[in-house]
Amino acid sequence: MQIVLCDDADHAAREAAKWVQALLVQKKRPVLGLATGTTPICLYQQLIRLYQQKQISFASCTTFNLDEYFDIAPEHPQSYRSFMQHQLFNHVDIDRQNTHLPVCFDGQNPRRVGLEYEQRIAAAGGIDLQILGIGSNGHIGFNEPTSSLASRTRLKTLTAQTLSDNSRLFVPGEIQPTMAMTMGIATIMDARYVLLIATGKAKAEAVRQMVCGPVSAYCPASILQMHEHAIVVLDKDAASLIAEQQYLRVAEKENQRMIEMYGLQFIADREV
Ligand code: F6R
Repeated sequence: MQIVLCDDADHAAREAAKWVQALLVQKKRPVLGLATGTTPICLYQQLIRLYQQKQISFASCTTFNLDEYFDIAPEHPQSYRSFMQHQLFNHVDIDRQNTHLPVCFDGQNPRRVGLEYEQRIAAAGGIDLQILGIGSNGHIGFNEPTSSLASRTRLKTLTAQTLSDNSRLFVPGEIQPTMAMTMGIATIMDARYVLLIATGKAKAEAVRQMVCGPVSAYCPASILQMHEHAIVVLDKDAASLIAEQQYLRVAEKENQRMIEMYGLQFIADREV
C-alpha cells in the first residue's frame, strides 16, 4: 500500500485528484471506477475545477460506479445515479452513455444485472483506477463484513451500522433502502489501481484494521493489502490509529520526491 498522509480533507482531495488527472491525461480511453458518499465529494469538486481550467477532459472516459441502491429508479433523487449527475457528471464533458451504475429495479433479476455489469466492465477493458471510500465497519463498495473476498457484482443486504451511518442522508419519513447492488471484492481487486480516500475520526478504527489488521472478510478493505497498486489517501484523523506514523511520514516524503522526479504513471512496471 502506498499511504499518502494529508493535513485535512481538502488536502486529501487534491492528492487524490492528481491520480485521476494523471489517468485522464495519460490514457486514451480511461476507465474510471467511481464511488458515492460524502468522502469523494471534495475530490469531485477538484475534478470539476480541473475540467473548468481545461486541464482534464472526460470526453473519452468510461465510468463504472461501485454500487447502486436496489429497486430504486435512476431518476429517484436518492439514487446514486442522481448523486453522480449532481456531484460530477452534469459539470464535466462526460458522455452519459459511457457512465454505468449497477441499476436493478422494476423486477430486474439481480443475478442477471450483476453478471451483465461484470461483462460491461470487461468489455470496456477493465477498470484502470477505482476510487473507494471506506465504511466505519471496513466495507468497500457495499461489501459488508463477512462478504466473500472472491465476490463479484451482486445484491447485498446493508448492515445496521451502514444503515445508521447513512441515515443522515435521508429526511425523516423518507424510505432508506436496505439493499444494494455492489461490485464484489474480486471486481474491485481486478482494477489496475485502487485509490481509497478516508477522512475524519469516525474512519480511524476501520483504517487501522485495513492497514494493520489481518486480511479478513470481517474487514473487507483489508484485502487491499493484497493489491499490487493500492493508494490510500488519509487525513490526520483517519490515520491517527496507525502505529507506524513516523515511518509513514518518511515514506511519504520519499514517495513525493519520486513522483516529482518520475511523475505519476499508469503503466505496469513491466511496460516501463
Ligand atoms: C459508496 C460506497 C461506500 C462508501 C462508504 C463511505 O459508493 O461504496 O463504500 O464509500 O460507505 O461513505 P462516506 O464517504 O459517506 O463516509
